[in-house]
Amino acid sequence: MAQDRLEELAAIHIEAEAGGGQKRIDKQHADGKWTARERIDYLLDPGSFEEIDKFVRHENHKFGMYKNRPYGDGVVTGTGTIDGRPVCLFSQDFTVFGGSLGKMFAKKICKAMDIAMKNGLPFIGINDSGGARIQEGVESLAGYADIFMNNVMASGVIPQISLIMGPCAGGAVYSPAITDFIYMVNGTARMFVTGPAVIKAVTHEDIDFEALGGAAVHNEISGVAQFEAESDAECLDSVKKLLSYLPSNNMDSPPYQPTDDPAERTEESLNSIIPDDPNLPYDIKDVIRLVVDGGDFYEVHEHWAMNIVVGFARLAGFTFGVIANQPAHLAGCLDINASAKGARFVRFCDSFNIPLLVFEDVPGFLPGVNQEHGGIIRSGAKLLYAFCEATVPKMTIITRKAYGGAYCVMNSKHFKADAVFGWPTAEIAVMGPQGAVNIIHKREIADAEDPEAKRQELIHDYHRQFATPYIAASLGYLDGVIKPSETRQHLIRTFNIVKTKRESLPPKKHGNIPL
Ligand code: HXC
Repeated sequence: MAQDRLEELAAIHIEAEAGGGQKRIDKQHADGKWTARERIDYLLDPGSFEEIDKFVRHENHKFGMYKNRPYGDGVVTGTGTIDGRPVCLFSQDFTVFGGSLGKMFAKKICKAMDIAMKNGLPFIGINDSGGARIQEGVESLAGYADIFMNNVMASGVIPQISLIMGPCAGGAVYSPAITDFIYMVNGTARMFVTGPAVIKAVTHEDIDFEALGGAAVHNEISGVAQFEAESDAECLDSVKKLLSYLPSNNMDSPPYQPTDDPAERTEESLNSIIPDDPNLPYDIKDVIRLVVDGGDFYEVHEHWAMNIVVGFARLAGFTFGVIANQPAHLAGCLDINASAKGARFVRFCDSFNIPLLVFEDVPGFLPGVNQEHGGIIRSGAKLLYAFCEATVPKMTIITRKAYGGAYCVMNSKHFKADAVFGWPTAEIAVMGPQGAVNIIHKREIADAEDPEAKRQELIHDYHRQFATPYIAASLGYLDGVIKPSETRQHLIRTFNIVKTKRESLPPKKHGNIPL
């Protein structure tokens, strides 16, 4: 081959890799962001990146655009491995037309998604973009719509993970919104449908980009994002950790990770972790960490709806999705946000063959006019629906309260949970002693010589007789009442039996979860 052919190829590679040029790369760095290629280099195993469509260029003649047709068109796409496992990804290049999305840019993303779907690979999207490429008009809108369609088709087939590492605005937000997990980098990531200027014009509200759609806002207030990182590096490291728990697709099992944490390990401190006063809080995350392999718990949605805790952990090397009421926040009550958070997580796990492990300590649904008017009926039903629908192995530990409808909802035996264990501190009843006594002994208390003393006596009796695990256990609604210290043993022994279970739902197009 003539040398000039190879030189021509090398020159195109250099040009493509230069993106929008050194000045814009310097600006990217000055803004605290890595470039599209630096992010890929950090995320993938060294030498594993196989780029596709590096030579793609836009075909737009409007606004004098044809004079500037950078190779790659502002997005880097391809495949590679993370910890030796294949993934497919795109990384938007803000240095090229502000990472804005036009027809060819969108085609590249869709092609990469097709590869991910056909081969059953997790799909990772790194977003850093000014949105629809204004010069390409409706073709860029069409491109977004094509991506949304692919996102929806891929939902529940391959894990889809979005990283927001710069702007992600307007309709562009809806691709990440469909994916399973959204990471945002503090200080540089922004997500919003309409920006501060439009908001000012329409509602006269004054707000800046960070306060409107920064990482903290979406992790703590809106719940749009599940993870917040302080830098690009921290964010990419966290994605690698997430992937270590996930199967590559819905036909696959989650990766098994051998552990030296013994299956028969007992944990004496669990016997005293529940306070003597049933109204005092404790941190359910301490319970989770004491039970799972190596105390390792990867929390999802850590800063939103903290009255429910969700995340990934392992038992005897197998991935579990953990869902737990958090008595240290709102007494562990279920409210609108907690129900939605739990339901979405349960459905993700069920889609991807990840068994469910529930720790239950829930006094009930959160009372309040806001909750009722905000639709706690509809939202609570989401969680109920998600647990009922899940066919993966399901295990529940009731550590303390399991009252009212919340008892039913939190992966009860009635929802085909494979095992439900109570600790001796479990309180399973229609409602707590105080409320119950005030209703069923109303007259008796009113007629008593000393009504308050009578009330306390009746509360004490109720607590002893009804706020226990033994009535539920006598009916077979609990499979056993266990010593807290032996929780890990019981869970692992049970899982060794139920991990091969095969259950299916009645044939249907799809259900109608109350959204
Ligand atoms: C074309 C764009 C662009 C866009 C930015 N650029 N956004 N080009 N279409 N949407 C270009 C700029 O012209 C500039 O080019 C370069 O990218 C960097 O932009 P700057 O403005 O210099 O950068 P910065 O100051 O960091 O501001 C970034 C920004 C701002 C906040 C993203 O550029 C901006 O507000 N852009 C418009 C955002 C927007 O409204 N997009 C449409 C959203 S609606 P040069 O050549 O100077 O480097 C949407 C609809 C999707 O996306 C619908 C889906 C259904």
